[in-house]
Amino acid sequence: MTTWNLSNMQRHVLICNGATCMGAGAEDVTQQIRDEIRAHKLDDKIHTSRTRCNGRCKDKCVVIDYPKGTWYSVQNEATARAIVHENVFEEQIIYSIEHGERIRGDHRIKGIDKYRNRKGKKSKAVLFVGHGSRLEAGNEEVRKFIDQMRPSIDASVLVETCFLEFASPNIEDGIQSCIELGADEIHVIPIILLHAGHSKLHIPAEIEEAKEQFPDIRFTYGQTIGIHDEIFGILKTRLTEIGFDVDGAHPQTAILLIGRGCSDDAAIQDFYTISNMLYEQLDVMTVEQAFMGVAEPTVEQGIQKCINRGAQKIVMLPYFLFTGILMERMGRMAQRFIEENPTVDISLAQYFGYHPKLQTVLLERLQQAIDGTSTGMQDLENFRKYVEEHGYEHHHH
Ligand code: FES
Repeated sequence: MTTWNLSNMQRHVLICNGATCMGAGAEDVTQQIRDEIRAHKLDDKIHTSRTRCNGRCKDKCVVIDYPKGTWYSVQNEATARAIVHENVFEEQIIYSIEHGERIRGDHRIKGIDKYRNRKGKKSKAVLFVGHGSRLEAGNEEVRKFIDQMRPSIDASVLVETCFLEFASPNIEDGIQSCIELGADEIHVIPIILLHAGHSKLHIPAEIEEAKEQFPDIRFTYGQTIGIHDEIFGILKTRLTEIGFDVDGAHPQTAILLIGRGCSDDAAIQDFYTISNMLYEQLDVMTVEQAFMGVAEPTVEQGIQKCINRGAQKIVMLPYFLFTGILMERMGRMAQRFIEENPTVDISLAQYFGYHPKLQTVLLERLQQAIDGTSTGMQDLENFRKYVEEHGYEHHHH
């Protein structure tokens, strides 16, 4: 490991590489500062470090210069380079130290107090975490779904929504707004079908980081939807909608259950379990499985398998919560399969969407988080162990 000789070092510049700052260009800021130092042969005198979140996300990108103790908010290359020469415009200064006193820049927000000594009733927030889609319609569906659920949640509980990737706010900002709105207790509930990397690592990483930042806030973590009885009700509704009689016998029909796909073996195993349970509840020739990516069989292979088994009718049944790029792709795939297989009756059912039973599951997950019966807390524990053993490179979406 690196061991620098720092005896000539005069300044230590900390460049925030927390999620919010990274999303606002902190990588470029890091490179620009380092480049300016190198260009002026100041490597000996100015040492730089990348840091995690410094707790001033609203001022992104944050750079801190010691021993002067000046905090900067950097939005462009000129400011990044000016830091090296200590001639940054006043407006870019968040905090400076004058006569031993910490002064906040005039137009900088005060921020929230680190420690709250509030007495009395705790104020609760639920923060729902959607996956997030490149297709804005998918994100809108998540927001609308949460709005619809609002009346079923105790009116005193604050309800916020955030996303893992592709949409804003991200989890870090979602947590921040709950706290700004006065929450002392935040229940983080993933809107995620299968328990895999996102729910095992990515969300716990954000919660653990937030716990460090906000030691007075209590966090709980809900479990994913997973294998839940209500799911079969949702799938049956989606089958009924396309004219499939879920109580009838369909000896020539194959159902192709199509998941997103992931590299987590346990999650894939759960998907197969769900598929088998669905088969037991229907009277069909077969329920086959396929994935839109990462895992196999692919959807093409799944369709082929159904055809090889002699299915006269194939129902493509998406195991997806909301719309998105993959749902659109699945629609185009279905069109193609229909054209290529004129003798087989192929149809595509709807994704879960605004199904009332999906609300039931998420409300149950929230209640478990509040009661302390959620397995999510174990996931946080597992994540901490995982970090001890393997380390964890924080991913920024
Ligand atoms: S991510 Fe930089 S201050 Fe929070």
